Amino acid sequence: MARLIAFANRKGGSGKTTAAVHVAAGLADLDCRVLLIDVDPQAHAGLWFGISSRENRGRGLYRLLTAEEKSPLSLVAKTGRGNLDVLAGGPGLTEYEAENSHKRGAVYELARLIAPYFAHYDYLIFDTPPTVGLLMLSVLTATRWILLPLPMQFLAMEGLAEMVRLLYKINASGNKSLRLKGIIPVMYDKRLKISSNIQKEVARVFGDKILLPGVRPTVKLAEAPSFKQTVFEYAPACTAALDYRRLAKHIKELRGAGEDSVKRTE
Ligand SMILES: Nc1ncnc2c1ncn2[C@@H]1O[C@H](COP(=O)(O)OP(=O)(O)OP(=O)(O)O)[C@@H](O)[C@H]1O
Ligand SMILES: [Mg+2]
Repeated sequence: MARLIAFANRKGGSGKTTAAVHVAAGLADLDCRVLLIDVDPQAHAGLWFGISSRENRGRGLYRLLTAEEKSPLSLVAKTGRGNLDVLAGGPGLTEYEAENSHKRGAVYELARLIAPYFAHYDYLIFDTPPTVGLLMLSVLTATRWILLPLPMQFLAMEGLAEMVRLLYKINASGNKSLRLKGIIPVMYDKRLKISSNIQKEVARVFGDKILLPGVRPTVKLAEAPSFKQTVFEYAPACTAALDYRRLAKHIKELRGAGEDSVKRTE
């Protein structure tokens, strides 16, 4: 059974890639088989591990979407961390989006093409771009759970509201199973009043259960990718390493009402 989780927020720079990378790596360290799918032309999630679709000889998501590849597993890159593989993003995805946005049914293609991975992984984790286009809509059509990293700043609430409006549209237009499963307070400092005020507001609107364990701010997160490492290797004792480990464990224990898993195809 593979569980599909998208990290998404309409606000740019809100910590989506950082969260997707660390939750993926954290779940892999908990003995889960994880495929991190980088649905972003910026390709930051793959680059975090030193994987770019170009250096990767044209493998990655672009090829999956465009080549009717006979062996989709061959498009996946190893990160060198036991159970964690990456399907790289890259600039070709912008081209894919431009060429296919107006094609009928294009939004269902990603869901169809990732199905062969279900039997090989426990988690498919999607990193998404901040813009709403074919790429983002394809992820929201394919997945069941959205996790939204929410920076503890008031303007970030706007990104949350926009994401919820988009979610309702997707629920109405096809994927009724899509849920905002959790909100992750990031850049979260419990000493600051703004952090607790935002959390109270989120809990008031969505209920307590939606709030997942938060991630405190640290510059280590910005430094780690230049060493092609997660903070679990780069600074294992830093607050973000501890917080992301706790978050990965919490996410592993999350359950849906039977609607959150996809049956193996093999
Ligand atoms: N908990 C945190 N504490 C401090 N800095 C953080 C935290 N999470 C993310 N950051 C920093 O915020 C910046 C943006 O993070 P990230 O690239 O993950 O955002 P994003 O939402 O993926 O951006 P984009 O919309 O461009 O894809 C990075 O410099 C990252 O190091
Ligand atoms: Mg990103």
